[in-house]
Amino acid sequence: MPELTYRADSALLSGLNQPLQDLLVRAAALAQGQQATLWLVGGVVRDLLLDQPIEHDLDLMVEGDAVAFARLLAADLEGTVSAAHLAFGTATVILKKVQAGSAVFPLALDLARTRVEQYPQPAALPVVQPAGIDQDLRRRDFSINAMALSVQTVDGHLAPTTLLDPFGGRQDLAAGHMRVLHNASFDDDPTRILRGLRLAARLGFHLEPHTQTLLATALARRRLEATSPDRIRTELCLALAEPQPEEVLRLADAWSVTPHICVPLHWTATLATRCVRARAGETTSLHPLHYAGLLTYDLTAEERNHLAVRYRLPGDAVRLLRELDALQAIRDQLTRNLRNSELDHLLRPFGVVALEVVRVAEPPPIPAVITHYLVQLRPVTQLLDGHALRRLGIPPGPQLGQILRELRAARLDNLVATRADEESWAMQLWQKIRDAE
Ligand code: CTP
Repeated sequence: MPELTYRADSALLSGLNQPLQDLLVRAAALAQGQQATLWLVGGVVRDLLLDQPIEHDLDLMVEGDAVAFARLLAADLEGTVSAAHLAFGTATVILKKVQAGSAVFPLALDLARTRVEQYPQPAALPVVQPAGIDQDLRRRDFSINAMALSVQTVDGHLAPTTLLDPFGGRQDLAAGHMRVLHNASFDDDPTRILRGLRLAARLGFHLEPHTQTLLATALARRRLEATSPDRIRTELCLALAEPQPEEVLRLADAWSVTPHICVPLHWTATLATRCVRARAGETTSLHPLHYAGLLTYDLTAEERNHLAVRYRLPGDAVRLLRELDALQAIRDQLTRNLRNSELDHLLRPFGVVALEVVRVAEPPPIPAVITHYLVQLRPVTQLLDGHALRRLGIPPGPQLGQILRELRAARLDNLVATRADEESWAMQLWQKIRDAE
């Protein structure tokens, strides 16, 4: 579990890097000029208290006109306003280049008017009305996400801040507890079940007992099944972007959530080991698609298809799942003693992610076969291209394509070495094709 920092509440904003602090000084000065009050809320406050690096975009609540403020702020910081919704009082300011030392990074500032939300019926989208910060915090998911820090400026510096923590979020952070704010929380917004899983997996937190009961009740009332598949898909994609998505799945099983999302899916030690193995030796985090493949590897083709259709998974994920179906169908062939060109012919249609997933998931000798293919064979190109063949007198058309393919096979099987070898090999083949016509 991450360590709680012992920074004084009033000094919490000093946990932000200097460029972010400078940004907030500008934002606070502008807000003060508009008689608006700014609050930093949600994940950033939680992560400042946990002394986690602040790598995500900032959520700022505005007691005042958030959209007008977003426009002013964008003009002041040379950013752009995107996704402005007058009715909801929300807007995002996009800054393309924020400088931190030698690094330059993009940043989004999500601005929203402080508000209350009412849910006309369970799992429906809320009706929103302006309200103060106290009421705004009440509509949130967990106590650890229902804290706010005032952002004000004095003499060009950030003023000592005040931490608003009406639901004991700080105490829950220290205890490692996930606690909802009221009994209808999961009924109002069942995606909170999935948000809770993500956060609990990331922080190593537990549901406090009453929240656990409420979650079980919401599951029994089939609230997840009543939630739009698109909203669920968004959460699933976020789960796959976590540092250890297999931990999210392990908790989803422990909280009995998995069967409400995908009946045949479940955590196994084997699956967790594969994820650990896939991460080993990687310097950057794995792409979420890798985890989509690794976590669904033991499903049948039909089960994977059902998942893709039900949640309308994005094109790249659907392609990956189909490629896994096809690769699993040919895995026996991969264990045979194949010529390089035969292996290339089998594996060349597949994307690298699918091949890497299979390499991690299958037993020997398949991992070595796929490594051989990816490292030694896939990057190979023959020396002659189509233009070179044209210069040898071979006309454009399907035969030229066939010669190029066979030339590649010949190179992979070490039948040609030099450019001259390739030229005479191509001419012989061209002659053979002509003789057969
Ligand atoms: N929130 C909520 N219920 C939701 C979604 C969001 O109460 N269904 C609130 C929470 O207070 C949350 C804040 O909105 O902290 C911002 O949400 P988001 O940006 O999605 O997540 P973070 O909490 O900032 O967490 P992270 O980005 O680290 O996952």
